[in-house]
Amino acid sequence: MERVFVRVPATTANLGSGFDAVGMALGVYNDFELELTKDESWTAEIAGEGSDDLPGDETNLVLRSARFLFDRAGIAVKGLKAKISNRIPLARGLGSSATAIVAGLVGANALLNRVFCNDEILAMASLLEGHPDNVAPACLGGIVVSFENDGRLWTQRICPPAELHVALVVPRFHLSTAAARAALPRQVALEDAVFNVGRAAFLACALGKGSFDGLSFAMEDRLHQPYRQNLVPGMEEVFAAAKRAGALGVALSGAGPTVMALSLQNDSRLGEAMAGAFAAHGVPSDVIWTKPSSHGALSQFEEKG
Ligand code: HSE
Repeated sequence: MERVFVRVPATTANLGSGFDAVGMALGVYNDFELELTKDESWTAEIAGEGSDDLPGDETNLVLRSARFLFDRAGIAVKGLKAKISNRIPLARGLGSSATAIVAGLVGANALLNRVFCNDEILAMASLLEGHPDNVAPACLGGIVVSFENDGRLWTQRICPPAELHVALVVPRFHLSTAAARAALPRQVALEDAVFNVGRAAFLACALGKGSFDGLSFAMEDRLHQPYRQNLVPGMEEVFAAAKRAGALGVALSGAGPTVMALSLQNDSRLGEAMAGAFAAHGVPSDVIWTKPSSHGALSQFEEKG
């Protein structure tokens, strides 16, 4: 095969209590076309989000991820051209880097007529990203609970409840995952770990059953959000505004700065209340309404020529 097309969903990781373990695919997608070239050039052509900032040479994350897979397979590939159409805002906690890693791996694997199985792709994606909670739903779609053990990623996929809507309130500033992880303590108190364990387990069961009672409490967190609030001005007030406006639950999306709220309807007052709370702290933001997506990159690639 010479050319493949891969579509990868945005993802919201953690959902509050499920730090580094729970993630959900969203109905906003980046599209990638990967093509083997005869010359020795590795190039990326980027349209949309990040077109001015992301590298177009071999240091591009899509190309680096593809090369990682080619190397693992022990297959020398001369050149690769990636055409990237980005819709997911960058460095906002919506899994844009996970889409690049997943697209590079899934696309490269398809170009090699799938030398690796899906489990191997998942493990490579998690290794490259450093945590599994974005790449797992980006690959599998839906809500995915995952953990890594001895180089293998264990996943449980939950079909998202059909009635869920998601409000993403996206501040107009970047926050790198590395900076947001650097703010976290190396050790936490046992009672804080216990606080999260019960809530994360409850969260997974509740989402699996489509039962939303108590979801708001189940999404509370003591392991990462409190330490990140200094990086996201107004975060606490945005959470409070979402709860007052009737959100089923609210959390920092991934490492932030986006705040996501779950709702039973596309309720403009909810988005406005959250954006208003950010604005009161001098933070302009954009509201995106979406829904969980059942589709992941591993179920959504198309072979061309
Ligand atoms: N679980 C990761 C974190 C997600 O919160 O740092 C990063 O998108």
